[in-house]
Amino acid sequence: MSKQHIAIIGGTGDQGKGLALRWARAGFQITIGSRSGERAAASAAEMRALLNNRGDKDTSIDGLINPDAAASSSIIVLTVPFDAQISTMKQISSSLQPGSLLIDVTVPLEAAVGGKPVRTLGVWAGSAAEQCAELAPAGVQVVSAFHNVGAAALADLEHEVDCDVIVCGDDKSAKAQIKPLVEAIAGCRYIDGGALANSRTVEALTALLIGFNIRYKAHSGIRITGIK
Ligand SMILES: NC(=O)c1ccc[n+]([C@@H]2O[C@H](COP(=O)([O-])OP(=O)(O)OC[C@H]3O[C@@H](n4cnc5c(N)ncnc54)[C@H](OP(=O)(O)O)[C@@H]3O)[C@@H](O)[C@H]2O)c1
Repeated sequence: MSKQHIAIIGGTGDQGKGLALRWARAGFQITIGSRSGERAAASAAEMRALLNNRGDKDTSIDGLINPDAAASSSIIVLTVPFDAQISTMKQISSSLQPGSLLIDVTVPLEAAVGGKPVRTLGVWAGSAAEQCAELAPAGVQVVSAFHNVGAAALADLEHEVDCDVIVCGDDKSAKAQIKPLVEAIAGCRYIDGGALANSRTVEALTALLIGFNIRYKAHSGIRITGIK
């Protein structure tokens, strides 16, 4: 059976890399996207070598420039800094196929414009995810997820990721497609976060978690209690 394919735009960065490693180990075919084809290929080769050295055989990771990566898959994950979200969406928009699913992981941290990582910026659209949805072509479903999962926890392949993943989106079937991606990461639990507009709250939580990480020298995550 062929592997399910995920393209990660900005996948050369910390968050994209962490997700790529976890999903590649779980059997997904990964394409790393970058503004530079060389950087994408080098990053993919580095990840393949890392997994191979750990004994994770038969993993599939390649690298392409962002528009080609976006065109290569029907599941696209956006992991770029907030100040690069609009320009990146404009770069990939015409490559996104109708019927594809775009998972936005962007957090509008003040750090993206030279400020503090423990504060979020006001976004006119309401949230980074809603801004992403405004920029996505018709027929592409936008959901948001993985904001509260830290890159360091994802990259620590010796341990499970101790975090719930709140998935926000306006289309139930699009959100349902994310569930197996969440559950492929050991320790993560899928939580339906309701409408895409609720991403405002989920994105803001990340700034709070970064503050915990600084004060407690930790890799914090979230757990929602009372839900089986
Ligand atoms: N790091 C975390 O723990 C974490 C956790 C939750 C959510 N997030 C969110 O996930 C997103 C990515 O985080 P990250 O830490 O992975 O970020 P990052 O490492 O700073 O950047 C990710 C990638 O984005 C591309 N990029 C950077 N600046 C750009 C620009 N001006 N224009 C276009 N592309 C640019 C770069 O790829 P190329 O140079 O190869 O194109 C870079 O490798 C952010 O929105 C962040 O808030 C991060």
